[in-house]
Amino acid sequence: MTTQTSRPEPKRLFIKTYGCQMNVYDSERMRDVLRPLGYQPVDTADNADLVVLNTCHIREKATEKVYSELGQIKKLKEAAGGKMTIAVAGCVAQAEGAEIMRRQPAVDLVLGPQAYHKLPEMVARASRAVGERLETEFETLEKFDALPKAREADGPTAFLSVQEGCDKFCTFCVVPYTRGAELSRPVDDITLEARSLAAQGVREVTLLGQNVNAWHGAAPKLEGGEEWGLGKLARHLARIGGFDRIRYTTSHPRDMDDDLIAAHAEVPQLMPFLHLPVQSGSDRILKAMNRGHTAEHYLDIMRKMRDARPDMALASDFIVGFPGESDQDFEDTMSLVREVGYAIAYSFKYSARPGTPAADMFGHVPEEVKDERLQRLQALLRDQQASFNASKIGETIPVLVTGKGRNPGQLHGRSPWMQAVHFDAPESLMGQIVDVKVAGATLNSLAGEYVAAVEVA
Ligand code: 5AD
Ligand code: SF4
Repeated sequence: MTTQTSRPEPKRLFIKTYGCQMNVYDSERMRDVLRPLGYQPVDTADNADLVVLNTCHIREKATEKVYSELGQIKKLKEAAGGKMTIAVAGCVAQAEGAEIMRRQPAVDLVLGPQAYHKLPEMVARASRAVGERLETEFETLEKFDALPKAREADGPTAFLSVQEGCDKFCTFCVVPYTRGAELSRPVDDITLEARSLAAQGVREVTLLGQNVNAWHGAAPKLEGGEEWGLGKLARHLARIGGFDRIRYTTSHPRDMDDDLIAAHAEVPQLMPFLHLPVQSGSDRILKAMNRGHTAEHYLDIMRKMRDARPDMALASDFIVGFPGESDQDFEDTMSLVREVGYAIAYSFKYSARPGTPAADMFGHVPEEVKDERLQRLQALLRDQQASFNASKIGETIPVLVTGKGRNPGQLHGRSPWMQAVHFDAPESLMGQIVDVKVAGATLNSLAGEYVAAVEVA
């Protein structure tokens, strides 16, 4: 005898995520809101019932890539006799809106980053062929409130969104236009989600925000109700227990305060890794970028961080060839990189984004000059990354085991400094923190020998 239940029919959900960790997080939340409707994640668009492209607008040609991907998915939809709902989410959706609908009629839904909680309703309407085909909005406050509080964690690491949006208006960047104003999530909401993640076995949590260190909020009444910054939030999350590791990304130099730096000295769970984009080492260019700080101010933060936590691994983003960047400006960037010594950094050629102030500036740098500068910068950054990794050889380091390696018996995990670490050990150690003695290092990872499981207090 079969029992009738009200469980919805299983349906196949394929989400393709482009861009930043914020999007990775948003995709997870979309999976969460769709799960009660019976949507199970699958890893290909073939035969999917719902395909979501969670797009990123930060770099050039992003929009064209989305249209070409949509062209491919349209073919799959046709092959499925039209039985597929196609949704475009994220920043390209926010920026392009109705234009996407016009250019690609196979698209059913367009939703901006603030509308994910409405996804189930929109999907239901679209599949009933009501013809609801558009939704983009900037209702930021509603978003955090409406998403389900209890998330399903997947493995020992998780993201927790604490802040959204950006008010910095760097002159090259589209994010303030696509993601809206800075908004901090209240402490109680964060605490609830953190407890739920910890209860599901998450060992390492990464607090997310476009300007995560701009996060601020009122402390719980029991703790005095005073205004907290990210340092206090990190201490609070360490205190409520459950996590062995706490990270946060991405920060802005203008929002870096002494309390957050001090927290790195005081809170053992706060991992020794700081991604603090500087973009350029030239004060003239920093000013034209509207970054709101000088190179010296940035270097000062980096020095204080290293004083607080001598093993701090430092990371950054760079743009070469910003309009007006002279040879000397670029040399200033190279000097800054030499002075800091990065564990890892991401570097890009400036690309004009329509609607941003820099796109209309004078002095656009020729492509071949940008190429040459990028190559020199990346060669230096690669050297630094390789020596940072090599500096761990011979050390025994704690590694959070995150998955199985390619060969049987192989596991991989993450070091406190965000390095991938490969080693042989029993699969039963998955999700635990283990000691690994590092024997070798490449540009992108470490290899070592399993020593023992670490007792965590
Ligand atoms: N051109 C090149 N790089 C850019 N970034 C953002 N906008 C642009 C642009 N117009 C880079 C910055 C930022 C990273 C996420 O992307 O370095 O920190
Ligand atoms: Fe873009 Fe600048 Fe905001 Fe970062 S801080 S998201 S680069 S405007």
